[in-house]
Amino acid sequence: MKKFYIETFGCQMNVHDSEKVVGTLLSLGYSPVATPEEADLVLYNTCSVRDKAEQKVYSRLRQFKRAGNGKIVGVLGCVAQQEGTRIFEKAPHVGLVCGSASYRMLPELVAALEGGGRRVTGLDLAAGETFETPYTKRDNPHRAYITISEGCDNSCAYCVVPFTRGPERSRTSRGILEEARELAGSGATEIQLLGQNVTSYRDPASDGLDFAALLARVAEVPGLRRVRFATSHPRDFAKAIVDAIDANPVLCDHVHLPVQSGSTKVLERMRRLYTRDEYLRRIEWLKGARRKIAITTDIIVGFPGEDDAGFEATLSLLDEVQYDSMFSFKYSPRPNTAALALEGQVPEEEAGRRLTLLQEKQRAIQIRRNSQLVGTVQEVMVERYNQATGQWIGRTSQNRVLNFVCPPGRVVREGGYLPVHVTRAGPNSLAGEAVDLL
Ligand code: 5AD
Ligand code: SF4
Repeated sequence: MKKFYIETFGCQMNVHDSEKVVGTLLSLGYSPVATPEEADLVLYNTCSVRDKAEQKVYSRLRQFKRAGNGKIVGVLGCVAQQEGTRIFEKAPHVGLVCGSASYRMLPELVAALEGGGRRVTGLDLAAGETFETPYTKRDNPHRAYITISEGCDNSCAYCVVPFTRGPERSRTSRGILEEARELAGSGATEIQLLGQNVTSYRDPASDGLDFAALLARVAEVPGLRRVRFATSHPRDFAKAIVDAIDANPVLCDHVHLPVQSGSTKVLERMRRLYTRDEYLRRIEWLKGARRKIAITTDIIVGFPGEDDAGFEATLSLLDEVQYDSMFSFKYSPRPNTAALALEGQVPEEEAGRRLTLLQEKQRAIQIRRNSQLVGTVQEVMVERYNQATGQWIGRTSQNRVLNFVCPPGRVVREGGYLPVHVTRAGPNSLAGEAVDLL
């Protein structure tokens, strides 16, 4: 029996890509094992969005070098696409380098290695979509990812993704809806629609459905209780999306709208294609919705040319928007990107100082916002039982983690939905008790 091990880094797209890769390997007669030591085929599905993520892969490859005799080692994903055959020079024990646009070729590539081939690659960015894979091995039977588009046509000055995932391709709404119906039929109740920029989705079929219309259709699939999506680009974020959320509560009360900076000047240098005011207009739409929609964001500090005033503008944006959660990063220079040529690099230490300030401010906002929910009842989808704390972990429609306890004898199951009374709030989660149903 041939055995494989896979480790995944990076975003949800990568996590879902790995599900497709695992499905493909199972179809080739491989079975999964829990450690690289036991495996004949060791795969790393990699991320190169920041240098730290990329370095993690090389550190894995170094660790594994000693243990790896006789095994096939493969690098997949964004570092594979970005570095290509240079990976063979840096890590000579690697036999397979394959970017996400080429996963359809995996059966042939693996067969070539099994047949004695030393080095094989799948690096053609034009290799086509990876949407309609017959084999996807999903681990979670309740919550499923569906890819609606791949790649990105923007050129944000800091971002490596257009180079690692290629130009944007949308999948047909027919394929998406078929997959959603199939998943609902097999018991999934939550769907997450994925794309590097879902908001610029356009059905390649003749009716040219846009993202808001697609959302509305997916939310009507019988059996689904929650539909989420990521990631949105503020420029393409249309009012119709908020209207769709308003019209159907299956669409979750949460929008992730990465702003990156609160300064119009910095946004321009980042080539984000919107101003602070244009961004804030989208926030107004969201805040004007009938249900309370949680808003979360991504922010980069220390982008070249971000001066004190630029950073202050980001701080004041946090005050103004009152985000429910935020991912924040120090700018990391990436290969091929336009920002490499920009002047005004911010020293590492100063970027670190800004990151700390930003995170402190956001922490206070989250404590305040979460504490406003104490005393309310929130419906959660149950994720799992946490042995260490004796609590169940649930998630609200607004994507908040709500840890809860249950009256003795009450049956709770993973993937189930139930109302929880919120009794406490922290910066990153809520705590509560399952409501007694009598
Ligand atoms: N440096 C730091 N952060 C980055 N991101 C993307 N590229 C970079 C970079 N070069 C962040 C952005 C994006 C998130 C996924 O990662 O905030 O929204
Ligand atoms: Fe990382 Fe971006 Fe690639 Fe996702 S698309 S794995 S975040 S580099």
